[in-house]
Amino acid sequence: MNEINSRAAAWALLTEFTQSESLRKHALAVEACMRACSHKFGNGSAEDENLWGTVGLIHDFDYERWPTPEEHPYKGNEILKERGYSDEIRRAIMSHAEYSGVSRDTPMEKALFACDELAGFITAVALIKPGKSLAEVDVKSVRKRMKDKAFARKVNRDDIVNGAAALGVDLDAHIGFCIEALKPIAKELGLDGSAIKTV
Ligand SMILES: [Fe+2]
Repeated sequence: MNEINSRAAAWALLTEFTQSESLRKHALAVEACMRACSHKFGNGSAEDENLWGTVGLIHDFDYERWPTPEEHPYKGNEILKERGYSDEIRRAIMSHAEYSGVSRDTPMEKALFACDELAGFITAVALIKPGKSLAEVDVKSVRKRMKDKAFARKVNRDDIVNGAAALGVDLDAHIGFCIEALKPIAKELGLDGSAIKTV
């Protein structure tokens, strides 16, 4: 693995451009889902896991500074190119924006789209649980909230449904899979229940 593909380099890039705690948590959540997906939809090697994880971690790294559809993820794409990130990584990141016109062809590209909005939605569901923890979230509660239009309005439900379909997985199974992928990093996401216990 070369230096640029190390997790430390990806984290440094993310935190250089992203100060928002919630955006950093979003990046970590998508990274965790992508790492899990690499074993299910990729070849399962350590290198592959790192690649998929990197894509998840940095897919929105330019968003805080350049949030408009005119700039995100294009600005980030230029920076990634300057810094020597591979075409494979840059293409996957470009493809997660519906409006970019970059098609999602590879399993990694499809997985990124299928995990992005869903990871945010699962996090939002955890936050309204009494203990604010991922341990309280199940597939049923996520599906129920998806039907509630007033809840987490910014999360596009169609992207979640279409993302799973394009990846070729049953939606319920994919939601459950992502919930499980997020649980190991519940503490980093602030969703391990300690937010309540310390009050
Ligand atoms: Fe995202």
